[in-house]
Amino acid sequence: MKIFNNKKDLKDCLLDYKTNKKTIGFVPTMGALHEGHLSLIENAKLKNDIVVVSIFVNPTQFDNVEDLKQYPKTIENDIKLLKSVSCDILFSPSVKEIYSENIASEKFNFDGLEHQMEGAFRKGHFDGVATIVKTLFEIIEPNKAYFGQKDFQQLQIVKKMVDKYDLNVTVKGCPIYREENGLAMSSRNARLSKEQKEAGPFIYRTLNKIQQKFDTENITKINEWLENEFKKQPLLTLEYFTIADEKTLKTAKNKDANKTYRAFIAVFAGDIRLIDNIALKN
Ligand code: PAF
Repeated sequence: MKIFNNKKDLKDCLLDYKTNKKTIGFVPTMGALHEGHLSLIENAKLKNDIVVVSIFVNPTQFDNVEDLKQYPKTIENDIKLLKSVSCDILFSPSVKEIYSENIASEKFNFDGLEHQMEGAFRKGHFDGVATIVKTLFEIIEPNKAYFGQKDFQQLQIVKKMVDKYDLNVTVKGCPIYREENGLAMSSRNARLSKEQKEAGPFIYRTLNKIQQKFDTENITKINEWLENEFKKQPLLTLEYFTIADEKTLKTAKNKDANKTYRAFIAVFAGDIRLIDNIALKN
């Protein structure tokens, strides 16, 4: 596996592949890799000649300094994992390499997608995400880029950005990867205590129940039920739960047979923020 820390060397190397008409699959990450990331890489390997993974803990997408400080950094283990799945290229730049002296986001308009859920609770988060993803797309110029559906809102926003800026990349959403007990895999899970790890699967169990309830119950009743369930959970604090239209990501009050819905949830286990979502059948 080739490892690059600077844009110029990476671009020079990629130019060789491009000249030889090789297709490039790209998996952007913030490191602390787990099986969910590896599954994105496996998907990318199936459909592209080479796979580039980036590891960059992007400061502009954190609304909370403490969260940024605490974000797990495990570069040596990440490199081992990347080699184990035969990743071709790792791009692991410094903050200075990406932002020079100006560590700030561009401002974006994603037709309102950015104001829902994560956007409402983490101010500026999606400006930061879009800034780094656009920058990485410009450096790497991948044919396809792979994102997990755990961050479903991020996936929809990246698709919207590609559309709005007419970027020449196909964005692929991949299924959520879960621990055996159902907890959605996340780099942040590494910070959970034993007790929090045991409590975590409650999130997915609850989403599964919501999926069943959605067949027969109205949205107001489902919301009430969920809030009560979380009141019984001392280790998990609900930040938000919403059933939203998959396209607009706007909270739904009633079901419309012509729309597709998804349930989204954000929960705190201590100071560790966990998100998850599930598709609902109308
Ligand atoms: O999903 C993530 O890990 C990050 O938001 C991403 C896409 C790598 C951008 O920093």
